[in-house]
Amino acid sequence: MSERIELDKTESEDRLQQMLVDVRRQLHRHPEVAFEEYETTRSIAGWLREADIRIADYPLKTGLVAEIGRRAGGPIVALRADIDALPIQEETGLPFASAVPGKMHACGHDFHMAVILGAALLLRAREEELPGTVRLIFQPAEEKGTGAAYAIDAGALEGVAGIFGLHNKPDLPVGTVGIRPGALMAGVDGFRIDVTGVGTHAAVPHAGVDPIVVAAQIVTALQTIVSRSISPLDSAVVSVTKLQAGTTWNVIPERAVLEGTVRTFDAAVRAEMPGRIERIAEGIAGALGATARLHWYPGPPSVRNDERLTSLTIKAAEAEGWRVVTPDPSPAGEDFAFYQERVPGSFVFVGTAGPREWHHPAFDLDERALAPTARLFARLAEVALAAWAGGGDSHSDRV
Ligand code: NI
Repeated sequence: MSERIELDKTESEDRLQQMLVDVRRQLHRHPEVAFEEYETTRSIAGWLREADIRIADYPLKTGLVAEIGRRAGGPIVALRADIDALPIQEETGLPFASAVPGKMHACGHDFHMAVILGAALLLRAREEELPGTVRLIFQPAEEKGTGAAYAIDAGALEGVAGIFGLHNKPDLPVGTVGIRPGALMAGVDGFRIDVTGVGTHAAVPHAGVDPIVVAAQIVTALQTIVSRSISPLDSAVVSVTKLQAGTTWNVIPERAVLEGTVRTFDAAVRAEMPGRIERIAEGIAGALGATARLHWYPGPPSVRNDERLTSLTIKAAEAEGWRVVTPDPSPAGEDFAFYQERVPGSFVFVGTAGPREWHHPAFDLDERALAPTARLFARLAEVALAAWAGGGDSHSDRV
């Protein structure tokens, strides 16, 4: 899929912008979903090689790690872009709309890849001056919530002092970044509850135990977790999103299955959730003569921005002429949080003035944000390297 793009000529802003538009549109046209990003990986590798950026040797089937910097022993700062698309049929009508039926870059990860590639080109042009190494992590499978852990297991974070990442934000205007210290995005967990009763004829319910009635009461009682047992000063979401039971109108079935998700921002609140849900499910089932079993599927913790890196990010953005706002935390999740469990990280919302929210079939973004965002991330990497190379806070004044 990779047409040749002359990445080495970054002499002007217009030129950089045009390249990144081309990159973004090519990626947009050829979306690949989680852990299937083979062509995407090949394209990124091709563009990096054209720019003479070295690709590091990590055992990743999809996704890749590259490095810029000649000074051995200096600090390592990572820039991360996620690369996967979604199983959604695109409905934008754009000339560069997805050529793959049922798959679409509906979360704008094509934008993230183009931006980090652009930052890489800018950094490559200043490679001799970098006081350390910038590691580019093009990470697969963000939408599954497992790609970051996969990259970390492959060694992508080894030696990294700090990491920066971004997500486009349709509801922020171009030229605006949303940055906040602490919790920015929610921890995401999933659950399933299997309710087992005793099947019987619908006309003789007393001969069985109806799991539908039990499941319905569990759904209702789960609503009390947020309303009655979480402090009003904390927040959480408990949503039951699937409830399945039965096959026909005159049979009380044996089983009912509930599925849902929990979103939290605070680690202590998150830790309480499985126990609370289990107590409610088992207690109600037990009282009604059924059994309930909870299966818990932990996802990424909440995205929590490091204070120092956040203030460095704000200064860098202001110096680049961005309008900086403090966004409300988003109840969506991001597996960037797994990196932040290990090293300080700063995750930024970049305004892209989209017509629709993430994951909508008509999702799009304003490409004018491409080159300025690439420039911001190049600057972030440089400023962070300078800070760590100098070993003190004084370097943050250089921003
Ligand atoms: Ni996304």
